[in-house]
Amino acid sequence: MSLLEIRNLSVRFRVKRTWGRSTYLYAVDDVSLSLPQGQTLALVGESGSGKTTAALAAARLVPASGGSVELAGTDLLKLEGEALRQARARVQVIFQDPYSSLNPRLRAGAIVREPMDALGTPAKPDRDARVEELFAQVGLRPEQRALFPHQFSGGQRQRIGIARALATSPELIICDEAVSALDVAVQAQILNLLRRLQTNLGLTYLFISHDLGVVQHMSDRVAVMYMGRIVEEADRVALFTAPQHPYTQALLAAVPSVERAKRKSVKVTGETPDPLNPPRGCMFASRCPKVQDSCKTTHPSLEELSGGHKVACYFPGE
Ligand SMILES: Nc1ncnc2c1ncn2[C@@H]1O[C@H](COP(=O)(O)OP(=O)(O)O)[C@@H](O)[C@H]1O
Ligand SMILES: [Mg+2]
Repeated sequence: MSLLEIRNLSVRFRVKRTWGRSTYLYAVDDVSLSLPQGQTLALVGESGSGKTTAALAAARLVPASGGSVELAGTDLLKLEGEALRQARARVQVIFQDPYSSLNPRLRAGAIVREPMDALGTPAKPDRDARVEELFAQVGLRPEQRALFPHQFSGGQRQRIGIARALATSPELIICDEAVSALDVAVQAQILNLLRRLQTNLGLTYLFISHDLGVVQHMSDRVAVMYMGRIVEEADRVALFTAPQHPYTQALLAAVPSVERAKRKSVKVTGETPDPLNPPRGCMFASRCPKVQDSCKTTHPSLEELSGGHKVACYFPGE
């Protein structure tokens, strides 16, 4: 069963242009995603493709302009007041830079405790024990509760961020570039921790990364985003061994850790279009090595090829 069902999600930002006029930037455009309970869906794409905005809108941290976000059958976008507060506790986000997302003036224990105080559960006398339990779960020592964020290494700070995210016992965790700022060795430790927590706690992950090398170790399914839209979505193995969209092929070609045999030499040239003035046809047309005239007139929709492998391209294939 799906824990999270995102349907036709759109987010637009009003942006000021010169001469005082404003226009809309469509950061997320008609995105649909399904996350089965206990699994990991990776959302990948270059910087600026709309990954963070999509995630923040799903967590109700940025207003959506359309669509629905169902968590276990309840549309989060329709909730208000107390119901929204309760639902928010079920979805937590782990950000890229734990240094800027952790309050430098609070001790680590207080940082992890804060979401419980905000939500009002568990009961007050139980919160200290819960903090201690969370520290153990993420591999920190109990006495480290008294330290301030700057007294921790980058990897340890991310452990505090994870403990804080777990404080409200969420079902869904959104990891937004959660290991991108860390050294490779530390990345591996944090990814292992996330996987262990997933198994032990039955967590569902929306795992956002620009790095396909990381995603290859951390996903059941992968969705590829370009300029606000999903251009390809498939099981991890299908995506890495038989990518269908030229953009996915180009992303994979740039990942050294993906086996050479699986990497095609796809060269992408040309400019990314101006998001304030997007093309009428395929968003990738200006950079695509396989572009035809028809690509420039109408935008290709995301179609299923076979076995859950979806692609938005008029000329999919290798
Ligand atoms: N608050 C905002 N106001 C205006 N534009 C924004 C805002 N947040 C993001 N954007 C724009 O939306 C697009 C998607 O950004 P983002 O979701 O951060 O992408 P990603 O996480 O994939 O790097 C970019 O063009 C970005 O400049
Ligand atoms: Mg981002």
